[in-house]
Amino acid sequence: MITFESVTKQFPGGTTAVDELHLQVPDGEVVVLVGPSGCGKTTILRMVNRMIEPSGGRVAVNGEDVMRTSPPRLRRGIGYVIQGIGLFPHRTIAQNVATVPKLEGWDDDRIKARVDELIETVGLPDGVRDRYPHQLSGGQQQRVGVARALAADPPVMLMDEPFAAVDPIVRTRLQDEFLRLQSEVRKTIVFVTHDIDEAIKMGDRIAILSQGGHLQQYATPKELLAEPANDFVADFLGAERGLKRLALIPVSQVEAAPGPVVAPGAGIDEARRVAETHSSDWVVVVDDEGRARGWARLDELDGRGPVDGVRLRDFELTVHADDSLRTALNALVISRHGVAVRLGDGDRYEGLLTRELLSEELR
Ligand SMILES: Nc1ncnc2c1ncn2[C@@H]1O[C@H](COP(=O)(O)OP(=O)(O)O)[C@@H](O)[C@H]1O
Ligand SMILES: [Mg+2]
Repeated sequence: MITFESVTKQFPGGTTAVDELHLQVPDGEVVVLVGPSGCGKTTILRMVNRMIEPSGGRVAVNGEDVMRTSPPRLRRGIGYVIQGIGLFPHRTIAQNVATVPKLEGWDDDRIKARVDELIETVGLPDGVRDRYPHQLSGGQQQRVGVARALAADPPVMLMDEPFAAVDPIVRTRLQDEFLRLQSEVRKTIVFVTHDIDEAIKMGDRIAILSQGGHLQQYATPKELLAEPANDFVADFLGAERGLKRLALIPVSQVEAAPGPVVAPGAGIDEARRVAETHSSDWVVVVDDEGRARGWARLDELDGRGPVDGVRLRDFELTVHADDSLRTALNALVISRHGVAVRLGDGDRYEGLLTRELLSEELR
């Protein structure tokens, strides 16, 4: 969707902000540009909508060289969200959101309907339409910025440190909402941040840049964390690189052990036999709907009735198939037994996760 071919930018005075950049931003993906302050992120972003023009090379959007497209036409297809929000202070929220549709000459009814829709989409309360930016919190203003950029439904969005100005709790919420929204709208997005954790969370792919606009690595978050291309990248990814990688892998990727499972109606002999095949002295009781009822120690079974005749114990730890391996590892580290029960949708029993299984997977 967006391609950079040997793109260079030198500013008057001699600063090389971007040097021979090759990069392809695939359709419908979020590509994050990350790197220290001054490494050329904003410059790269602004070359996409021609707010800055390259000194060499070619930037193309949808196959068309941006230098051969008139800026107004180019920008119609590109939403732009900047840090510090950049709302018009003397226009209401509704007027701010309506900026591009108005320029496009939409009629009033259509604009109003679109503004209402977007205010809801980005999670703003109904009452904000006629307020002014200074009457909103930082997080709310940031949402208005996103709504404004989405107004004319552009296929491409450029976002320059969009969540940097808000506190960490609001930032987390905005990030989560953004990801949910993106899973619906599937825009092609170039997202700038200096925060590597934000990059890992938000990006389908990450471009790590160093001073002078040098691209050090371009890869998916998992690839980066598993195999940083050089020391710069490894340093930038920071400590706990291995744990950050585990945070991206769902528990469902590791095969769970079946475990010593018996039905609620099983007798002591069957429980003993099943436990023995699994070298355990306890059994998990799973009903015919696949739900785990609890577990029992063999020496607590009274030997006469079925296993669910005794009071079953609750599981100390459960992990869900959608949890990350990092969450699972944390659970196993604090567990006394080193075993977690893995549950799937509808809390169905899927097996056991042990420290051994996890470390095998890690190797
Ligand atoms: N208009 C400009 N004139 C001269 N130098 C500039 C201009 N804009 C940016 N620069 C320089 O280009 C480099 C990259 O800047 P920028 O793209 O803003 O970095 P980032 O967004 O990664 O912090 C910096 O050294 C900056 O000082
Ligand atoms: Mg910048």
